[in-house]
Amino acid sequence: MKLFLDTANVAKVEEIASWGILDGVTTNPSLVAKEEGADFKETVMAMCDLVNEVSAQITTTEFEEMRKQADEYSSWHKNVVVKVPMTVEGLKTLKYCSGKGIATNTTLVFSVPQAVMAAKAGATMISPFVGRLDDLGVDGMDLIADIMEAWSHYGFETQVLVASVRDPEHVVRAAKVGAHIATIPYKVFLQLPQHDLTDKGLKKFMEDWNSIKK
Ligand code: G3P
Repeated sequence: MKLFLDTANVAKVEEIASWGILDGVTTNPSLVAKEEGADFKETVMAMCDLVNEVSAQITTTEFEEMRKQADEYSSWHKNVVVKVPMTVEGLKTLKYCSGKGIATNTTLVFSVPQAVMAAKAGATMISPFVGRLDDLGVDGMDLIADIMEAWSHYGFETQVLVASVRDPEHVVRAAKVGAHIATIPYKVFLQLPQHDLTDKGLKKFMEDWNSIKK
């Protein structure tokens, strides 16, 4: 299972990458907008030096423009993954990128038919947004389970990336259904290594060790 950080903040990527378990980063225009004054290209390039896969989202909606943006982003660094919205124009762009060997991440996936079409267009990854479905009172992780079940019948190489993660339980359920990747916000990432029993156990080990005459 790959673990990605969902952020446009380079310092946060540096911090989590230093743990040695970070596989990639996903950015989107909303995350970029939070990092006032940061240059998008410089941000993506800096992240590409820290992790192997960095999703950079294209910001046009017609195929010709999307194709040009995909070409431009992919020329920045070998680790760039072009993030493409799940629209008909996006499908054309995915197909174009797949023909050129450009890695892609299909964003804003909310249904199994969308997932299947993106896979057929040759997407490297698809990003179903689980938290946004949860917000509507629908269990977002059910969509991941449905997609993984569909994937089990076919030879799709497209990786399923669980996005819009809101808490560690999303990561647990992603792992249990065999999702290939989870992209995790910084504050949730910090919770993942923590367990009260680990802290209590370590405290006791240290106390006992320090009580021994050495
Ligand atoms: O990876 C997608 C993610 O950034 C969207 O998360 O919390 O805005 O639904 P959220």
